[in-house]
Amino acid sequence: PRREFATDLAGLGWDELEARIRACDACGLCKRRKQAVPGVGDRQADWLFVGEGPGAEEDERGEPFVGQAGRLLDNMLGTIDLKRGEDVYIANAVKCRPPNNRTPEAAELAACFPYLSRQIALIKPRLIVALGRPAAQALLNQEIKIGAVRGKLFSHASIPVVVTYHPAYLLRNMADKAKAWEDLCFARSTMRRLREG
Ligand code: URA
Repeated sequence: PRREFATDLAGLGWDELEARIRACDACGLCKRRKQAVPGVGDRQADWLFVGEGPGAEEDERGEPFVGQAGRLLDNMLGTIDLKRGEDVYIANAVKCRPPNNRTPEAAELAACFPYLSRQIALIKPRLIVALGRPAAQALLNQEIKIGAVRGKLFSHASIPVVVTYHPAYLLRNMADKAKAWEDLCFARSTMRRLREG
């Protein structure tokens, strides 16, 4: 079960929230970050994409998904006619870079979750797309395997969630790209249904 650390985030606006993220020392990841990476995009987006955590380039630049995986994410968004910054918000499950890009630990995901949770409350997206296992596990609060949950609709805080492969994984596993594209089409048709109400 998830432990909520920063329970006093309720009521915080964007500026205060981002300041809290940048100054956060709730887990050990703060020690080696250059900077925390809160997120980027339309703060009233219908779509929220959630990745794993910043890599080297993101840590350097302070923006999520600006490296190689980010270029693939931009292509993935493009296949369903979405653009970074337009109708999309992009955040990560952990806001600070794990050393050597290792997978964030459960305790780190739990320590950081209240920030994502507050971002979700502020954005109120219609649909959340979890990219990869750590993001999906943080949002669904359960152990999952991507292969078993992709193509299904879940929810977090009453907001629909779909899960697909992380772009960095797809760069190493080309064979699964077609499945990710199917998942994006599923996400798009889900969004259409949600908009039709
Ligand atoms: N991978 C992620 O999960 N997030 C980023 O911001 C960059 C790479």
